[in-house]
Amino acid sequence: MSEHKNVPTPHINAKYGDFAETVLMPGDPLRAKFIAENFLENPVLVNNVRGVNGFTGTYKGKRVSVMASGMGQPSIGIYSYELFNFYGVENIIRIGSCGSFHKDLHVRDIILAQGACTNGSYANQYNLPGTFCPIADFDLLQRAARACEKEGVNYKVGNIFSSDMFYDDANSGMQWAKMGVLGVEMESAALYCNAARAGKKALCICTVSDSFLYPEENTTAEERQNSFTAMMKIALEIA
Ligand code: HPA
Repeated sequence: MSEHKNVPTPHINAKYGDFAETVLMPGDPLRAKFIAENFLENPVLVNNVRGVNGFTGTYKGKRVSVMASGMGQPSIGIYSYELFNFYGVENIIRIGSCGSFHKDLHVRDIILAQGACTNGSYANQYNLPGTFCPIADFDLLQRAARACEKEGVNYKVGNIFSSDMFYDDANSGMQWAKMGVLGVEMESAALYCNAARAGKKALCICTVSDSFLYPEENTTAEERQNSFTAMMKIALEIA
């Protein structure tokens, strides 16, 4: 039996060492493939269980991986746990989309999730005598903010709301907005919990794909692709 007895896992059929120290995580497996094929040199497929594409290649000479997280906290909870705890991954940078309820954020702008509020129960497993605040790694956050400045994109740093519901009967996003929360997505809180528990680093970078305040701001798929490209560049620069 190998020293790394937990790999492969039920969800990742890669060998130990197949992943780089830093993994970029979009939600969508096809986006992971797109990033690997368009931004990485010599990408190699290292996982394809359930069609969750994982690739490792190089960017400007540095080894970097990209693998999808799927949607929601249970899904990113599984993949990020296995990467951090079984594959020796040190940094996970989620690159996702989010809805925004902040007046200064429009479709295509970027949110750097400094903290992640949630209606989910992921942190209950730690049996803490209070409320845990899932936060980003400061070093990754600071470097992402600098990369946003350099790219000239409009961005904000602050709290995001990781919701367990996309279709939310209570439309609870607006209640989080009154606390200055910038936007809503579905993964960051679990990712930040796993990083904290494993003593590793994580950051979530989100492109605003829809605005609760400016619903008329529709974009074409092509325009959206360009804004995602800006976010990918930022993530790759800090990887
Ligand atoms: N809700 C939850 N997740 C999202 C949204 C949303 O409105 N937009 C993009 N990801």
